[in-house]
Amino acid sequence: MCLTQKTGEMEQILEVKNLSVLRVEKTESISILNDINFMVKKGEMFCLVGESGSGKTTLALSIIKLLPKSFKIASGEILINGKNILEINEQSMRNIRGKDISIIFQDPSAYLDPLFTIGSHLQESYHGKNENKKELISLALQEVGLDSEVQTVYPHQLSGGQQQRVMIAMALINKPSIIIADEPTTALDVLTTRQVIDLLNAIRLKHNPAIFFITHDLELAMKTGTRIGIMYRGHIVEIFKPGREKPSHPYANILLGTIEGKDTILELNFKKNTMDSKQMQQKCPFFDMCVEKEARCKKTIPFVWCDSETGIRCLKNGRNTQV
Ligand SMILES: Nc1ncnc2c1ncn2[C@@H]1O[C@H](COP(=O)(O)OP(=O)(O)OP(=O)(O)O)[C@@H](O)[C@H]1O
Ligand SMILES: [Mg+2]
Repeated sequence: MCLTQKTGEMEQILEVKNLSVLRVEKTESISILNDINFMVKKGEMFCLVGESGSGKTTLALSIIKLLPKSFKIASGEILINGKNILEINEQSMRNIRGKDISIIFQDPSAYLDPLFTIGSHLQESYHGKNENKKELISLALQEVGLDSEVQTVYPHQLSGGQQQRVMIAMALINKPSIIIADEPTTALDVLTTRQVIDLLNAIRLKHNPAIFFITHDLELAMKTGTRIGIMYRGHIVEIFKPGREKPSHPYANILLGTIEGKDTILELNFKKNTMDSKQMQQKCPFFDMCVEKEARCKKTIPFVWCDSETGIRCLKNGRNTQV
């Protein structure tokens, strides 16, 4: 049976409560993220899975307070190590970025400046006052499997996989308590993807940061995640533990079916969800597409925690008996 969330029984690095984000246009505001609730604890790899445009990057940018100007946080709280970052100024946020929280983006070549050496990038990323800066940089490079000599080269002299390793070293150098990785392997081949994932896991096991890993690949998330959040059109519809339970939300089941070789995804592609963001707030966001829908799904469906770590936003489900 689903209960209210228990807190305080584990070390939460990131906690997002009732977060809603709007895109403000001239004549109207469009809901991009809707009532998002989740937490990431120390040492876990929380994978956020969702199709393109579902709001994964918007959520990541909200967490580091780097949303585009046209986006507005309408409500909610984002706590990093217990501090609500929505209440602090940009100066204080700059101290948190890099130090407590680091981000690795999809395309490293877009974030590495071609005019600066790898060494300069790492020096710029380091926020501490340690006199052994050079040693720390060499150590960070060593940790991601790169030679110290890489410091003298320019980004274009490295492969995509090596560039992503540099981004990981930059994210790691301040020993943050949480690393956000926004589809860090999308631009990489299968083998390099595996190596980058293994590297992130090795870092997690050694230094115990929380990792918030964004991907559209449920199969990858099932293999690497300690918990998985499923996102659908600006809503987290389910959070589950792979290996302990199968997801139960009808949308999550369709995604799972694609891994298991069922062609339910084809059915989904042929249908079209025509609801706008206002309609999606008034009923289940998956209503138009759901094969299991009932009349009672035509109301706002809250996200309900099943235990301290997992939960679901669906009425027709054994895991959700509270609503
Ligand atoms: N800079 C922007 N200006 C206007 N709309 C944007 C901007 N960035 C994102 N959006 C819109 O916000 C919504 C969420 O986009 P977001 O980039 O967060 O999705 P995503 O899940 O990260 O997708 P992808 O898997 O393609 O990276 C989409 O409808 C997108 O069109
Ligand atoms: Mg994205």
